[in-house]
Amino acid sequence: MTSLTLHQVSVSLGHGDARTPVLRGVDATCRPGVLTALVGPSGSGKSTLLAVAGALLRPDGGQVLLGDSDLASLNDGERAKVRRERIGYMFQSGNLLGGLTTVEQLLAAASIAGRPARRLRAAAETALDEVGLGHRLRHRADQLSGGERQRVALARALFLEPDLLLIDEPTAAVDREQAGTLTELIAHKARERGCVALVATHDPVVVDAAEATVSM
Ligand SMILES: Nc1ncnc2c1ncn2[C@@H]1O[C@H](COP(=O)(O)OP(=O)(O)OP(=O)(O)O)[C@@H](O)[C@H]1O
Ligand SMILES: [Mg+2]
Repeated sequence: MTSLTLHQVSVSLGHGDARTPVLRGVDATCRPGVLTALVGPSGSGKSTLLAVAGALLRPDGGQVLLGDSDLASLNDGERAKVRRERIGYMFQSGNLLGGLTTVEQLLAAASIAGRPARRLRAAAETALDEVGLGHRLRHRADQLSGGERQRVALARALFLEPDLLLIDEPTAAVDREQAGTLTELIAHKARERGCVALVATHDPVVVDAAEATVSM
C-alpha cells in the first residue's frame, strides 16, 4: 500500500506582476485506505495542491512522495507515465471530452492508460451504475446535467483502480443525499483498494465522513 507525503512543497503561479505564491512550505501525509478531506477557504490552494500531488504541476520546491518515488524530481515523460498508470483525477470542472458518451469517457481514459478498452466496457457500465448513472450510458457529455457530468468524472477517476485518487469537490453540484452516496462510494473504494483518496471539499457531508483531514 502506497502513501502520499508532501514535504515543504512550494508553488508560485502566474508570470510577471501576476506571479503569486500559492503554496508555501506545505507538509501533509495521506494514509492509504482512508478518505482524507482537503479543506480550506476558497483560494487557499486546494486545487493547486491536488495538481502537484497528481503530477500535473511541478512544485518550485519540496518533495511529493508517492511511496518512495518523488514526483517533483521526475521529468515530464516520467510524470505523464505516473499520471496515466497510477493516478485517478477528478477535476473541479469535470473535464469531460465533448461528443463522447458516458461509457466512452471511461473507455477513452482506459485507452490512454494502455488498458484493453474493448474488454472493459462492462466494467465501465458498472462504474457508471455505481455513481447512479446506469440509465445514462448512451448520453453524451453535452446531454448531461452539471451534477451528472461531475459523477461521470468521478466514475472515470475511480474506474482504473489507481494508487492515488485525487478528487476536487465531487459534491459541489449534487443534492445532499447524492453527496452522501458519492462520499460513501469514494470511502469504500479507498478501503477496498487500499489507495490514498484525497478529496478537496467545502461540503460538511464529506468532511464528517473523512477519517483524516489536511487543512490549508
Ligand atoms: N495561473 C495563476 N496565476 C496566478 N494565480 C493563480 C493562478 N492559478 C491560481 N492562482 C491563485 O492561486 C490561489 C489558489 O487557487 P486554487 O484554485 O488552488 O484554490 P482553491 O483552494 O482550490 O479554491 P476553491 O475552493 O475556490 O476551489 C488563488 O488565489 C488563485 O487566484
Ligand atoms: Mg479549487
